[in-house]
Amino acid sequence: MKSRAAVLYGMNQDWKVEGIEVDPPKTGEVLVQWKVAGMCHSDEHFVTGDMVPPQELLAMMGVDDFFPFIGGHEGAGVVMEVGPGVTSVQPGDHVSASFVPSCGRCRYCSTGRQNLCDLGAGTLTGGMITDGTHRHHVQDGRAVKMMAKLGTFSEYATVAEASLIKVEKDLPLECVALVSCGVATGWGSATNRADTQPGDTVVVVGIGGIGINAVQGARMAGAKRVIAVDPVEFKREKAMELGATHTFASMAEAIPAVMELTWGQMADRVIMTPGVLHGEMMAEGMSLVGKGGTCVVTAISPMTSTEASINLFQLAMWNKEVKGTIFGSLNPRADIPRLLDMYRVGDLKLDELITRRYSLDQINEGYQAMRDGTNIRGVIVYD
Ligand SMILES: NC(=O)c1ccc[n+]([C@@H]2O[C@H](COP(=O)([O-])OP(=O)(O)OC[C@H]3O[C@@H](n4cnc5c(N)ncnc54)[C@H](O)[C@@H]3O)[C@@H](O)[C@H]2O)c1
Ligand SMILES: [Zn+2]
Ligand SMILES: [Zn+2]
Repeated sequence: MKSRAAVLYGMNQDWKVEGIEVDPPKTGEVLVQWKVAGMCHSDEHFVTGDMVPPQELLAMMGVDDFFPFIGGHEGAGVVMEVGPGVTSVQPGDHVSASFVPSCGRCRYCSTGRQNLCDLGAGTLTGGMITDGTHRHHVQDGRAVKMMAKLGTFSEYATVAEASLIKVEKDLPLECVALVSCGVATGWGSATNRADTQPGDTVVVVGIGGIGINAVQGARMAGAKRVIAVDPVEFKREKAMELGATHTFASMAEAIPAVMELTWGQMADRVIMTPGVLHGEMMAEGMSLVGKGGTCVVTAISPMTSTEASINLFQLAMWNKEVKGTIFGSLNPRADIPRLLDMYRVGDLKLDELITRRYSLDQINEGYQAMRDGTNIRGVIVYD
């Protein structure tokens, strides 16, 4: 069938909105009509090249060319058709995208770490999770890859059942889309991965679609102080609305202030959620962490960067820890519905996260707004 999609043909280019061909679902696959797609910073990393695997790595994976590539991994939609063997969804069901698939059976899924499911391997390259072949083609007939094998920047996509979570039909699909990446990742970074405890001092560095939800997570976990750091004033104001107690324009500004606020103890948890994490930012990030404290690295760094400035003496002597996280270390099958339930009862704020809505044709305008810092989250709403 025909679809319209935002396709990237190379780095440092605009997304090109054009017609593509989508094949019907095979065994274990589902045709989805995406209704809403969130504009997460992770898709922007393909435009800048931060998340485009280097040629040597692609060659090792047997991939000739990374592009063309359909973006979008934050999303919500409606099931149109299911292939043989699909049991968890049926036509008409509402679904959330899950940028980490979960098979339920691998070593990681079966030990409560669905964010590390083995099916996530090769998520940025190659064909379908099910059999490695392709279901999506651009006009010249070439196969086109999809971000996280979801391609929520396409009206229609054929995706693996493992990448979809059924949600209740009365929930606004905009909210479902937000939860599918930004909310879960930010919230889980603060609650689950950082393990924020009542009374803690938590610093969140970078208040975009991810960081704002780390602020919400820290507040809900009972933090006494939630300190939001972002150079953009609008982001700091938004952070105060959603639970921050203090804000600063930079980590350099926050360090002496946190020292004073905590009588020298510094923060119990620091969550790093800037748009791009550069190695040198870790020096200030780690300076914000107090004795026995934790720094969670959620933001993505350029794929090939291998250096970070960390005072290793202090890491050892202050008994600090640094932890990475994917998807806030949550379990998509349990936690996407759980977060939506928290929205339903009013504990988790979702409507407040959307700054602007765009049509698919306005995608480049939406990403420009992200670069300009004028959106907490922009979303694409399909007709
Ligand atoms: N680990 C995961 O599973 C996961 C999932 C989704 C997104 N991410 C990553 O999380 C990061 C944040 O994504 P987003 O969608 O919220 O991005 P965003 O662009 O919406 O927000 C980033 C914010 O960081 C701020 N910022 C930039 N430099 C800063 C600095 N030096 N100090 C303080 N603030 C700074 C910006 O002003 C902006 O408000 C990205 O790297 C994204 O790829 C990771
Ligand atoms: Zn994302
Ligand atoms: Zn698994």
